[in-house]
Amino acid sequence: MFAIRAEGIYKYYKGGAGGRKEVLKNVSLDIEEGEIFGILGPNGAGKTTLISILSTLTIPDSGKIEVFGMDALKEANRVKNIVNISSGNPNFPWSLTVHETLRYFSMLYGLKNKEKAVNNVIDILELESFRNSRFDALSTGTKQRLSLAKALLNEPRLLFLDEPTVGLDPDMAMKIRKLIRRIHDERRLTLVLTTHYMKEAEELCDRIAFIKNGEIIANAPPGVLKRQMKLGEAITIDYEGGFDAAVLKDIPEILDIQHVPGRIRIVAENVEPILDSIIKKFCEVHIKNIEVSQPDLEDVFLRLVH
Ligand SMILES: Nc1ncnc2c1ncn2[C@@H]1O[C@H](COP(=O)(O)OP(=O)(O)O)[C@@H](O)[C@H]1O
Ligand SMILES: [Mg+2]
Repeated sequence: MFAIRAEGIYKYYKGGAGGRKEVLKNVSLDIEEGEIFGILGPNGAGKTTLISILSTLTIPDSGKIEVFGMDALKEANRVKNIVNISSGNPNFPWSLTVHETLRYFSMLYGLKNKEKAVNNVIDILELESFRNSRFDALSTGTKQRLSLAKALLNEPRLLFLDEPTVGLDPDMAMKIRKLIRRIHDERRLTLVLTTHYMKEAEELCDRIAFIKNGEIIANAPPGVLKRQMKLGEAITIDYEGGFDAAVLKDIPEILDIQHVPGRIRIVAENVEPILDSIIKKFCEVHIKNIEVSQPDLEDVFLRLVH
């Protein structure tokens, strides 16, 4: 079953040429139930606008959106019951404590057993020791955990995460990614997340859509994207002595060579079958280090957005 089917979404804001700025252009997406789907793109690409629309918080100027088969525009209230959204830049009332904030949202959502729901999410997001701390006294990572806790209150089937680890140090970002993965696996949620950290997308997402200037320019699993881009593998060799890269000309599989004295980087679709021929060219110099690396999503991203 599809968690989301979106077709032909357009969104305009005031401003830009002709007093109208096109923020989303003909965006169509299918997201399957249970997937972790990533939306990637540079700042201002339209990621937040897109997930606000998919989660019924913002109304598009045109297009169709189905969420678990329901029309998200005509039946927004029914859809709201089964979705939620968490932002990596949460903005809750500064003077409320963690507990008060969650109580407030549990009332807003009309939950039956409010205290039980609040305690449950405090437990999942490990917020017990911050229960009575005010929002303005929390660290960025704790604020983000509170935002995730709030988003789990109504036990959504579909959860949107807008840059869930933005501005965190690597340790805390990794902790939050682990929590996100655990929540997904335990609750069999469908997750849609935006990020501009390629590592995060690569680690978490089953499928990735790249968005640029409001348009989707690629949509596939990370591995497929890398193959489509024909980025190839790279072998980097550090050496001592004099080496002339011209001797590599007779290995036709080589796609690209970057050479500075002491270090050469050779790119091929597949390095392993030609490794032996490459190494033999280096018999006159002293090899200090050899490293074979796979392309990463960062390379895909740079190729796509420039
Ligand atoms: N409420 C708004 N009014 C006017 N312009 C907006 C509004 N929200 C977003 N925009 C503009 O829409 C574009 C996309 O913004 P956004 O969806 O926040 O991008 P992203 O999340 O990818 O950084 C930006 O150029 C932004 O300035
Ligand atoms: Mg954004």
